[in-house]
Amino acid sequence: MKLFIQLIMLCGLIMTSAHAENTPATEAKATATVKPSDALDRDSACTRCHDETENKPILSIYQTAHGNKADSRTPSCQSCHGESEKHLSSKSVSPDIIFGSKKGVFAPSDVKDQNTACLTCHDKDQKRTNWQGGAHQVADVACTSCHVSHTAHDKVRDKQTQPEVCFTCHKDQRAQVRKFSHHPIAEGKVACADCHNPHGSAGPKSLVKNTVTETCYTCHAEKRGPFLWEHQPVTEDCSNCHTPHGSNITPLLKSRAPFLCQECHDGPHQSDAPAAGNAAGIQGGLSPTLPNGNFSASENFTGRACMNCHSMVHGSNHPAGALLHR
Ligand code: HEC
Ligand code: HEC
Ligand code: HEC
Ligand code: HEC
Ligand code: HEC
Ligand code: HEC
Ligand code: HEC
Ligand code: HEC
Ligand code: HEC
Ligand code: HEC
Repeated sequence: MKLFIQLIMLCGLIMTSAHAENTPATEAKATATVKPSDALDRDSACTRCHDETENKPILSIYQTAHGNKADSRTPSCQSCHGESEKHLSSKSVSPDIIFGSKKGVFAPSDVKDQNTACLTCHDKDQKRTNWQGGAHQVADVACTSCHVSHTAHDKVRDKQTQPEVCFTCHKDQRAQVRKFSHHPIAEGKVACADCHNPHGSAGPKSLVKNTVTETCYTCHAEKRGPFLWEHQPVTEDCSNCHTPHGSNITPLLKSRAPFLCQECHDGPHQSDAPAAGNAAGIQGGLSPTLPNGNFSASENFTGRACMNCHSMVHGSNHPAGALLHR
């Protein structure tokens, strides 16, 4: 009842407001053809002052999913900013919720309050079920540190521009993706959110899947196998050998072979074979895979090293591939 009276009063205000005559043509056209939802009706409480004359893009919100006039769930100004009764009667008092992190005319609200305003509608969305307890929630990162609401283009949801947003806080990853070997993130072909759910997840490091390896398989399905001869560290965790964002050792390797391999295979080859990294590997029946039929100690320590013979590092389907050499 109280709300109803308020609405009547507001309608009166709108009708006498000078702003009402200045309603932009586009808006007038839109309201003439589509029956505005109650939410948009209620916006007039705010838009009688905050209109197209603002130097910030307030009304562009109608070009976003939050301006969908046909959807009854569409938020009004007050669904996000709060009823703001005091602000309505005195513009020197702040609205209930001020978003962002920088002080403008008014100080920003507590991050928890800002996020609650969004989560009243978005906490049931499937992709945000792990927000509570996720790294960003725990670190008090606001939804609006990543998302903008009044701008039609939400940078963080566009593959091309998403990294810019993440890099404002994640400087290490910015440096990593510039390394010689990298996922094409800066190129706009792979996005951070292809591997991470920024809203938190059940996996480690907010990965979209429950493990690193499952996350990698979403694109590198051919590495999943099944292989007749598996290489244990591959099925265990791709990051035993690879680093996800960037490396100066191609392809995205943590270190160079033979050192990479010797982190686990530190002993010599079996008695009848040469010591790993030694010269006479031609005895073991693997020599046909060598490009020129022989190799020297120096070659073993450069380039593909161990992979000159053990070329199937990710697993082999050859009946005789137990040594990952074919
Ligand atoms: C009577 C006119 C009036 C009404 C009605 C009004 N505002 Fe304001 N609002 C202002 C003025 C004046 C400011 C001070 C900043 C400025 O000059 O733009 C302001 C500031 C704000 C700010 C902070 C802007 C900034 O740059 O930091 C927000 C957010 C805001 N209003 C939201 C709302 C919302 C939401 C409503 C509806 C519930 C509303 N306002 C209704 C006049 C009004
Ligand atoms: C009153 C409910 C409500 C509130 C409050 C609300 N939203 Fe939404 N939001 C919606 C609806 C409805 C949609 C469109 C339908 C959908 O995709 O679920 C939507 C869509 C979105 C989208 C996707 C846009 C697109 O183009 O697909 C983002 C991002 C979003 N909201 C972020 C936010 C943020 C950030 C806040 C807080 C500042 C917020 N929402 C507050 C209801 C709300
Ligand atoms: C660390 C940055 C970041 C934060 C913080 C963040 N988001 Fe997002 N959000 C994203 C990205 C990136 C996407 C696009 C995801 C994709 O492409 O899969 C997205 C997508 C969305 C979408 C639309 C698509 C979907 O996933 O359903 C909604 C709605 C949304 N976010 C709401 C929120 C709300 C509510 C909060 C605060 C509780 C929030 N976001 C916090 C980065 C963020
Ligand atoms: C989905 C939630 C949501 C809705 C709905 C919403 N706002 Fe906002 N508002 C925000 C967020 C978030 C910001 C911070 C800047 C941004 O993200 O664009 C903001 C910023 C503002 C500002 C300050 C401008 C600035 O850039 O600092 C004003 C004024 C404002 N809103 C008024 C309104 C008015 C008037 C309406 C209704 C037409 C409205 N808002 C509807 C979330 C919302
Ligand atoms: C190809 C998948 C992939 C992409 C794309 C990706 N990441 Fe990651 N990220 C991972 C994996 C896997 C880990 C965990 C292993 C690690 O820390 O090396 C990780 C870890 C992280 C961590 C935690 C680091 C730590 O030491 O705790 C941050 C922060 C991060 N990524 C941010 C980003 C950002 C920002 C982007 C986009 C610029 C991005 N990631 C793109 C896969 C990816
Ligand atoms: C406003 C700053 C801010 C922005 C923007 C931001 N992050 Fe974060 N992020 C943090 C903080 C703070 C942490 C927690 C401390 C840490 O690990 O550095 C974090 C942690 C992470 C982690 C580690 C997750 C875990 O579970 O350990 C990943 C992955 C990540 N962010 C990815 C992203 C991605 C992807 C984006 C862009 C879509 C992004 N972040 C944008 C501040 C930010
Ligand atoms: C969203 C899809 C996607 C996911 C998920 C993904 N990758 Fe990639 N990966 C790519 C693309 C695209 C390339 C570039 C392929 C090209 O240039 O031909 C690539 C290239 C690579 C390369 C070769 C890099 C080079 O310098 O040649 C390696 C190694 C790699 N990815 C490992 C991983 C690992 C490990 C994971 C899991 C942490 C992973 N990828 C997850 C899409 C993905
Ligand atoms: C034992 C170390 C090791 C592990 C574990 C490993 N890789 Fe690799 N990966 C390599 C090496 C070494 C190369 C370079 C091979 C070459 O030069 O012949 C490579 C190359 C690649 C390439 C680029 C060339 C190609 O074969 O497509 C991709 C993509 C790749 N790995 C993905 C993955 C994925 C996904 C996983 C986890 C399922 C994984 N790797 C686990 C060592 C490893
Ligand atoms: C993270 C540890 C780890 C790394 C790094 C690693 N391996 Fe392995 N590798 C293993 C394990 C564990 C097995 C299985 C050993 C077993 O079954 O006795 C294995 C098996 C093998 C086998 C089969 C021989 C056998 O006894 O089954 C070959 C060949 C091999 N690795 C070569 C390599 C090469 C070449 C590299 C470098 C590109 C490498 N490995 C890197 C852990 C590793
Ligand atoms: C010139 C080819 C060649 C090169 C280069 C080579 N190996 Fe081998 N490797 C073999 C042969 C042949 C065997 C089989 C020995 C046997 O059956 O007794 C073997 C066996 C292995 C085995 C099985 C267990 C063992 O000790 O016999 C592992 C593990 C292995 N190599 C790892 C490596 C690593 C790590 C490197 C690089 C430091 C490497 N190899 C370089 C030819 C090579």
